[in-house]
Amino acid sequence: MFKLDQFIEDCRAAVITAEPEQAVREIVRSALADRARIAAELPDPPHSGFVVLHRAPELTILDFTWAPWMSFKPHNHCMWSVVGIHSGREDNLFWRRVSQTIEAAGARSLGAGDVAILGRDIIHSVVNPIGKLTRAIHVYGGDFFAPPQPRSEWVPETLVERPWDMDDTQRLFREAEARARQGD
Ligand SMILES: [Fe+2]
Repeated sequence: MFKLDQFIEDCRAAVITAEPEQAVREIVRSALADRARIAAELPDPPHSGFVVLHRAPELTILDFTWAPWMSFKPHNHCMWSVVGIHSGREDNLFWRRVSQTIEAAGARSLGAGDVAILGRDIIHSVVNPIGKLTRAIHVYGGDFFAPPQPRSEWVPETLVERPWDMDDTQRLFREAEARARQGD
């Protein structure tokens, strides 16, 4: 049965194992087997965005809420991560660097119960393709807010690289939420 405190403790133990990504993936997978319990422990918040469930130098756990139809810019993490969807759908587009820009390299659509490991150098963008919230737990193998190298994002229109901008990130969530409310 999913209990947030125990989930965090299990992830803390997993990140010091020999294969932390796989260990965390199994923890997230078993948590997602009881999605009604997750919904009870992590009810839909009043606003889209992310809530920090745990932050430490070797582990960050974020509770994501993607606004309906939200599209989120390409970015990297500079650390591995595990994504688990507990409701809705998260379409991931994966990118690779080519000279001064990036090109699309693959995609994976994740629905409720799905879990994915993202490697430390992955570049991805995210779309919530449905007209309701998508909820996801993202576990990162480091301090998401203080990565070992500076993180990047890519301008969606031009695919030009620039430093990760947290203010812009917050703005994207606010705007997506406002657009969804207008459409209600
Ligand atoms: Fe990401």
